[in-house]
Amino acid sequence: MKPQLLIGVASPLILSVVVSATACAQKARTERTTLAGVYSEPQAARGQDLYAGMCKSCHAAATHTGVAFEKSWNGHPLSELFGFISTRMPKNEPGSLAPEEYIDVLAYLLKLNQMPAGPAELPPDTTVLGAIRIQTHAAAKPPIR
Ligand code: HEC
Repeated sequence: MKPQLLIGVASPLILSVVVSATACAQKARTERTTLAGVYSEPQAARGQDLYAGMCKSCHAAATHTGVAFEKSWNGHPLSELFGFISTRMPKNEPGSLAPEEYIDVLAYLLKLNQMPAGPAELPPDTTVLGAIRIQTHAAAKPPIR
């Protein structure tokens, strides 16, 4: 990430975001959802392998999809789900994966929920993740005009 020297003087609006300065500070104001292709296909594939090794002993993939997933997570920032799995899972050994591994598993959870893949990987960065809202397909009403 490059230091963004200009941002500091650019606008008082942006100043408030500088505390959490990342290359994506400008994007934070635009609402992105998990339907926008926020993870990549290879990332989800890595996540699937990790899930098989670290999570499957307790979970069926179905527990992270459909109504149950929607009830717990729909509308929440992606950073919450990331925070949950990285501090609470695996239940028997919380926090035992690297952030890069948790983020891959998270990509796989999105894939399980039929959220589309995109060109870029999801970064293990809570500022970026905080600006992405979880939106499940069922709740995503197509814009009818
Ligand atoms: C030793 C058993 C065990 C393992 C291994 C485990 N979990 Fe869990 N998981 C649980 C239990 C039990 C819950 C119910 C909530 C609680 O007790 O904290 C849960 C809840 C969850 C939830 C919240 C419910 C949901 O689906 O929305 C998520 C997400 C989750 N686990 C993901 C993972 C991931 C990802 C891994 C692998 C890194 C993992 N779990 C490994 C036992 C486990």
